[in-house]
Formats: sequence, C-alpha cells, structure tokens
Amino acid sequence: MTERPLVSDWATDFDHLSEEWAAHGPDILADLRERCPVAKTERFYGAYLVTRHEDIVETARDTATFSNRVTAVNTNHPDKIKLDLSPITLDPPEHGPVRRPLMPSFSPRATDELEPTVLSMAEGLLDDMGDRKLVDGALDYAQMLPVAVMGHLFGVSTEMGPTFRRWVDGMLKEGQIDLSIARTAAREVQEFFADQLRDREELGDDAPDDLVTKVLNAQAELPDGATRPFGRKERIGALFVLMLGGIDTTWSTLGAMLFHLGSHPADLERLVNEPELMPTAVEEFLRYYSPVTIARYITEDAEIAGCPVSAGQRVLLSYPSANRDPDYFEKPDELLLDRENNRHMAFGVGVHRCLGSNLARMELRVGLSAWLERYPRFELAVEPDDVKWSVGPIRGPRSVPLRILN
Ligand code: HEM
Repeated sequence: MTERPLVSDWATDFDHLSEEWAAHGPDILADLRERCPVAKTERFYGAYLVTRHEDIVETARDTATFSNRVTAVNTNHPDKIKLDLSPITLDPPEHGPVRRPLMPSFSPRATDELEPTVLSMAEGLLDDMGDRKLVDGALDYAQMLPVAVMGHLFGVSTEMGPTFRRWVDGMLKEGQIDLSIARTAAREVQEFFADQLRDREELGDDAPDDLVTKVLNAQAELPDGATRPFGRKERIGALFVLMLGGIDTTWSTLGAMLFHLGSHPADLERLVNEPELMPTAVEEFLRYYSPVTIARYITEDAEIAGCPVSAGQRVLLSYPSANRDPDYFEKPDELLLDRENNRHMAFGVGVHRCLGSNLARMELRVGLSAWLERYPRFELAVEPDDVKWSVGPIRGPRSVPLRILN
C-alpha cells in the first residue's frame, strides 16, 4: 500500500482510504457527527463527508444538486471518471427507465424462488470446510457465498468465482488506492460481459433464462409509456453494477455477522436458542455493520446543513454513520438482536435505494442460519482488535479466524 500523509484533523483533512479509517471508522464518525457533521478535506481534489442521518437523507434526495454521475471519492479527478454503471451512475429522469426493468429479477418472489439454491450453496461451502477446527469465516464462507450466488444468476461457470473476487477487490479495494488496478479490472469486467452478451445474442431463443439474457432483452420504460432496448453501454453497465453491488456488500455484512457472534458469546447463544430472532437480528447487523459509503458529484455551489459545498467536488454520504446517529436511534452503539422499529439506511435512501435488498436479506438470513445450524458454538481465534477491516467504500472484515467449539 502506498504511503499517505497522516490525517491532521478528521474534520478538515479526512482520508477515508487510510488504514486508520479502516481500523477506527465508527469512532471517527461518532466524533464527526458531534463536532463537525459536514467534514471536508483538501485531498481527492477537495471533498466533503456528511455524517448525520437528517443531512444524508436531504442530500440523497436532492438529485439535481448531488448527482450520481460519480459515486467514488479517490485520487482520480471527478471530471475524469466516466465509468458507466447504469442505473447507479444515472440521475433522474434517465435513471428510472433503466432501473425499473431490472427490478423483477430481485423481487420478493424471485428471491423466494432462489432460496433453496442459496441454501444448498451455503451447505456445500460448509461441507467443504469439513471438520476443521480453525476456519476463516470471511475467506472460507462469507466471501464465497455471494460470489457463488451472483455467478449462478449470471449463468456463468462456478470456476469464475476467483476471477469475480479479484475484479471486486480490484475495483473496490486495492483499486481505490492504485487506480491502475481498478482500470485493469474494469476493462476485464466490461470485456467479460460484452462476451457474455454476445453469446446470449447468438443463442437467440435458445439462450438460458439468466440475468445476462434478461439484461440483453431489457426494455427501458420511458415516461410516455414507450419502450426502447437498452443500449450497449447500459447493458454492460447494468451487469457490471450488479456484480459490484451484489458481491462485496453482502460478503462484508455476512463476515461482520460472524465476527460479531464470534466475539459476543451471549449474542451467539441467544441467536442459536432463539432462531425466531433471525429477521430482527439481520436488520440489526445491517444497521450496526453497514458496509456502504457512497459519493455524489456536486453540480452547483450549495449548502449542506448550512455548510457551503463547491461545485465540481464530491461529497461522501456515510450510511454507516446515519445508522449510528443518536438523534435517530436509541442506544445506537448497542447491537440489539431484537431491536424493533429499525428503519436503518444500510440500503441507502431515495431513488438509488438498493435494488438487491430482498436478495441481500435472504442471503444473509440463509447464510447465517446454515452456519449456526452446522456450527452453533464457535469463537474468534484472535483478539477482536487484531481483525483488519477493508479499505474502500465497502467496509467489512478482511479475515475472521474462528475456532469451532462443537
Ligand atoms: C448487504 C448487502 C447490500 C447492501 C448493504 C447494499 C447497499 C446499497 C446501497 C447503500 C445502495 C445505494 C447507493 C446510492 O445511494 O447511490 C445500493 C444500490 C444498489 N444495489 Fe445494493 N446493497 C447490497 C446488496 C446488493 C445486492 C445483492 C445487489 C444485486 C445483486 C445489489 C444491487 C444494487 C444496485 C443495482 C444498486 C443501484 C440501484 C440504483 O441506482 O437504482 N445490492 N446498494
């Protein structure tokens, strides 16, 4: 990792791509919410960081001033980022017509139909771990499951798993620091999906009913009721964002769940003894360990919570911070497996709210239930402070060494 100047003050010089942020993100955010809810930095060509729930909602809803055309803050100049990840990089009115046709593939019904497949994938991964007494909850399990699920949905060989992982890491982790890694990964992903689309096109009516074929045949729904086929860039962009959005987010949350239960024996025991808590527990893990921080591009000089922000710069919306805001949640820093009224923002807010939330919730529930069924007793095999968290826009534990006790 390249050397970066140490942060002098998180309110005026934040660096969300530093190891310090990765290690102490929640503490830094708690301090900023209190002391400076709209932090700034001269790094990254100038950027802002919004940490309070109310301000994040307001910023995310103002899509004219805060555009999704750029969703990452890194050392690439904001005006040089041209990556097409439709629909996430589109603003209204172009956004809805591309988002809507993708929605049926992630409806509650589509997700229910997929559940038995996800369960058998989870059980297969647990079988592969055999009777080892030391396993890695992140590397052996959490990171594998969403990769397998997305590979299945795309209708590609399971052998692509390691390549998907390399691409996701390349785009969202190392590539945020070293842009050449992200560029190489992006090119490879685009070529891969272009080939997949070509295959399905050649197969015509014989093409399998997978996500690639669905995107190939998707029709953008225009406001006047007319439709048009997706363009080439939209097709590749949609498949690209589904891969990026569907993998790291889910593996980070599942990994964080195993980290938490491995280091909080009372919560583990309670969830094993009271499996009916699983739905509220999943929501609480999503709130407490929210993985996604995402950016907006500022289209004109504006204010956020009374703080001036400049056109042409970027602003980070910290959904993890919104989810720990004491003005919105009672006891925000306690993880309560039975928390009711948990209107968290892990899946974002506004028009870009996560398209795959039904699928994500199901994967987390099924993935964790299958694990607890097989391993009701386990503990973290290292000190919690020794677990390293990823650098980049998606926060999750890089490795979760666990000792199996049953
Ligand atoms: C725990 C798992 C997940 C979390 C925490 C998560 C979180 C998010 C968040 C915060 C956004 C909003 C981004 C913004 O404000 O600009 C988002 C958007 C999106 N997510 Fe997820 N996500 C998860 C899983 C998934 C899955 C499984 C898929 C699909 C396979 C998916 C696909 C998408 C897509 C396509 C968008 C863009 C939607 C749009 O722009 O209209 N996500 N996600």
